[in-house]
Amino acid sequence: MHFPHALETVLQTLERIRDESVNRPCASRSALEALDRIAPARGMENIQEPKSDVVAARDQHAVEKLASVNERVCACVKCPNLASSRTQTVFGVGNPEADLMFVGEAPGADEDAQGEPFVGRAGQLLTRIIKAMGFAREEVYIANILKCRPDTPGTSYGNRPPTPREMQTCRPYLMEQIDIIRPKVIVALGAVAVEGLLGTRAPMRELRGRWDSFNGTPLMVTYHPAYLLRNQSPSEKRKVWEDMMRVLERLEKPISEKQRNYFL
Ligand code: URA
Repeated sequence: MHFPHALETVLQTLERIRDESVNRPCASRSALEALDRIAPARGMENIQEPKSDVVAARDQHAVEKLASVNERVCACVKCPNLASSRTQTVFGVGNPEADLMFVGEAPGADEDAQGEPFVGRAGQLLTRIIKAMGFAREEVYIANILKCRPDTPGTSYGNRPPTPREMQTCRPYLMEQIDIIRPKVIVALGAVAVEGLLGTRAPMRELRGRWDSFNGTPLMVTYHPAYLLRNQSPSEKRKVWEDMMRVLERLEKPISEKQRNYFL
């Protein structure tokens, strides 16, 4: 039975007992307040089923825990060169209770300017992939191995890959994010993300399309969207899409015929 209907039945029964019996039903003030919070009005058949208190509390918890990690990230100066060159740190974005988490390399110039991961051209392609999977960008969580843009001394443009030392220094923040979010599946975007997460270095053609495990969480490796922007070949794009269908299967999300035939 849907929650609003169940509640309606309880209320009707209580009213009947009140009207028909000498012993009037009695409810504590806190029970009435709790009912008030979840059922402000009768005739609410169309309202969304409220999240259970336990789930709502976990949500709240995750938001607060992520905010506290972010505070430390904002103040981080462990890599003095990055701390002095960054416009701001780029923590992560999305649902703190996401089933699906994407991990990229490091913020680029656009992300450094906007404070959000994957907002440049590669990010727009990632957002298209997420939508084609049937998710809103806000439903998943997106983060990077590094929270600062790798500096490029002497120029304000161009990107460089993070150094192993920078990755090692920043990794604990990502570990905390994953521990709090507890995604069902992690997608590592590109070789740097794989190296940061698993410590493995290998050519992407050997790594991608395979299930790995990150501390027990299934991890799918796929190409970085920036690679697809550089290499527009339909067969490479199709590979990424096939990896994403593996992810959907793992998440037990139904895949439509249209999705099966989709090419990025
Ligand atoms: N590339 C990444 O790996 N991360 C971003 O946030 C943007 C581009």
